[in-house]
Amino acid sequence: MQETDSSFFPFVPSLSDGGKGDRYGNGGKTNMYPFVSALSMTGGDGENSYACNSHLQRKVIEKTRPVRVKNTKEMLIKLDFPPCIKVADLGCSSGQNTFLVMSEIVNTINALCQERGRDPPETDCCLNDLPDNDFNTTFKFACFFNKTSKGSSFISGVPGSFYSRLFPGKSLHFVHSSYSLHWLSELPRGLEDNKGSVFITGSSPRTVYEAYLNQFRKDFSSFLRLRSEEMICDGRMVLTLIGRNVRDPLYRDCCHFWTLLSKSLLDLVHEGIVRDEDLDSFNLPFYDPDEGEVKEIIRNEGSFEIGELETHEFDLGQSLDERDYMLGRDKSGEREANCIRAVSEPMLVAHFGQDIIDALFEKYARHVSRHSDCRHKSTVTLVVSLVKK
Ligand SMILES: C[S@@+](CC[C@H](N)C(=O)[O-])C[C@H]1O[C@@H](n2cnc3c(N)ncnc32)[C@H](O)[C@@H]1O
Repeated sequence: MQETDSSFFPFVPSLSDGGKGDRYGNGGKTNMYPFVSALSMTGGDGENSYACNSHLQRKVIEKTRPVRVKNTKEMLIKLDFPPCIKVADLGCSSGQNTFLVMSEIVNTINALCQERGRDPPETDCCLNDLPDNDFNTTFKFACFFNKTSKGSSFISGVPGSFYSRLFPGKSLHFVHSSYSLHWLSELPRGLEDNKGSVFITGSSPRTVYEAYLNQFRKDFSSFLRLRSEEMICDGRMVLTLIGRNVRDPLYRDCCHFWTLLSKSLLDLVHEGIVRDEDLDSFNLPFYDPDEGEVKEIIRNEGSFEIGELETHEFDLGQSLDERDYMLGRDKSGEREANCIRAVSEPMLVAHFGQDIIDALFEKYARHVSRHSDCRHKSTVTLVVSLVKK
């Protein structure tokens, strides 16, 4: 009988480090900010889950459809209708959004094949996210995918950081990622002076912006290099991420979602529920580049040609439905608060504990309601399509 490989057993990730291992692809460096390892969306399908609070991300996917359809068709024609197409969605999260993307790509491929009298290919749909992502909730929606997408498609999960190698060399035809690349692999050093705020604000020192930008440069360049190894020539990539559209790199509007989170935490500091120093040592592993920064990194990395680079309006309010408007401001504040809660709760719990969360997001909802008339937003959605050289 063959001996079992004992190298699997001494290391039990869920007991030693919360299952994080080196999933961020940061070379196993010890992180000064342990809560960063808790980055993941809230799993399950409960009322605070990402699956039930990702309407904004769904709207973004709908809006970016034309770029995906155009690039899928151009890729297929340029590669002369390969018999098997491998597609990856990086940062698929838990819930059904990823299947909206996958069925649209598969249906676009099949419709073009039919139009040109070609046999439809098999499609290998690979859904990637961090190992702690609730893939089970995602896979429960696979039945809808099978119903809505015609032709032979196969679904698989790929756990791991997109800041590390995920696929064999030259195997991917199409890469998609929506609302994931603004998450960094780690927090940079140099944020110690960012007091009273969880992200860049008008009162942050310029060095804080520079530290964040350098981390984004490092992460996004390595993302491009890794994908360039995994993709075939003339393969396509469509990336959508949160960005900003203002010249002053420190400016964020008064109703910026992280500014409202900082204000809500400060309320709890004033009430003696959160300690000053706990707020000062919490910063988000997030960066919202402007168009110029994205272009510069892509050009310097050198593996991809830029196709489209679009800027879309960002509005958390878009995630509300008619019912919310009829119910009024309080309800809309609650919905925006739920959306931010679903993306940040695991990290907040890891740093501040579970007890403050309900109170924190009640404050958040109230802050949103007070800002519901603000029109000048510094936040945008950036969409970029890339062709592998
Ligand atoms: C806001 S969700 C977006 C999910 C989905 N694409 C959508 O549009 O609804 C961002 C996802 O990116 C994932 N993510 C963040 N950093 C990642 C990394 N380094 N590697 C893989 N996934 C990552 C998070 O775990 C999360 O599920």
